[in-house]
Amino acid sequence: MKGIILAGGAGSRLYPLTLVASKQLQPVYDKPMVYYPLTTLIEGGIREFCLISTPHDLPRFQQLLGDGSAWGLSIEYREQAKPAGIAQAFLIAESFIGKDSVTLILGDNIFYGGDSFQRAFADFKTGATVFGYHVHDPERYGVVEFDANGKAVSIEEKPKAPKSNYAVPGLYIYDNEVVDIAKNLKPSARGELEITAVNVEYLRRGTLRVQRLPRGFAWLDAGTSSSLHEASAYVQTIEKRGGIKIGCPEEAAFRQGFVSRTQMDELMIKIPNCEYRDYIAEVVAEAKRLNQL
Ligand code: G1P
Repeated sequence: MKGIILAGGAGSRLYPLTLVASKQLQPVYDKPMVYYPLTTLIEGGIREFCLISTPHDLPRFQQLLGDGSAWGLSIEYREQAKPAGIAQAFLIAESFIGKDSVTLILGDNIFYGGDSFQRAFADFKTGATVFGYHVHDPERYGVVEFDANGKAVSIEEKPKAPKSNYAVPGLYIYDNEVVDIAKNLKPSARGELEITAVNVEYLRRGTLRVQRLPRGFAWLDAGTSSSLHEASAYVQTIEKRGGIKIGCPEEAAFRQGFVSRTQMDELMIKIPNCEYRDYIAEVVAEAKRLNQL
């Protein structure tokens, strides 16, 4: 399974924050936003990534994440010259995807809690798996409607009259068919290759699974100043209470066995003396104590 992180867009709703750094580089409490979706996919066992962003912002992401090797990953970078829709990612990343299945995650989606994604990755074979999450403002999202048996019957992009309260979050798992499906899409009324149109096509073929995310699972949006602030407050609350971090790629890679204890020691030498390093040191020390990994 390959992983695509889409971190494009103008971030105009966060102006003036986004004048010099893109939305997905903004801090969410104690880390850049893109660390959260990256960590979500690492926790799902994904090691090969392609990050897509604007020509202007791509060098910043490269500076931040490098080639991924320090974390036992490989990260490639591709440009999205113009914002022509989420599904364009499959065309931009076609050679990266090759013959594999692929997960696309949006660089501004923050998830926390449970193991729904890990199980979905482990169970995935063919077709598509997307998720449904109960929200109070479904008209802002892709909206999935279920029948009485809990089967998905329709998906609509930002409908004026939503048929349910279930929004489709920005993590999508597809088999290799997605590349051909994306190639055959027509731009929508707003001129974009819509991810919802991809999901509608899988639904039409009868190969779309929509899993409802349980209560207690958090999906945070960080696209406006107040939702960015709320996401930071949420992360701070959980981290302070539990003495753990959300969205720490080093920790996730370590727990996945992508980096050894020795590599973690090497990695820490390069991190300045700060609370983030103390945390990673504690994770490694605890693993040593428990003789794990
Ligand atoms: C996009 C998708 C939408 C999805 C949402 C999740 O919306 O078009 O279907 O529910 O991401 O964050 P956008 O962020 O482009 O408004």
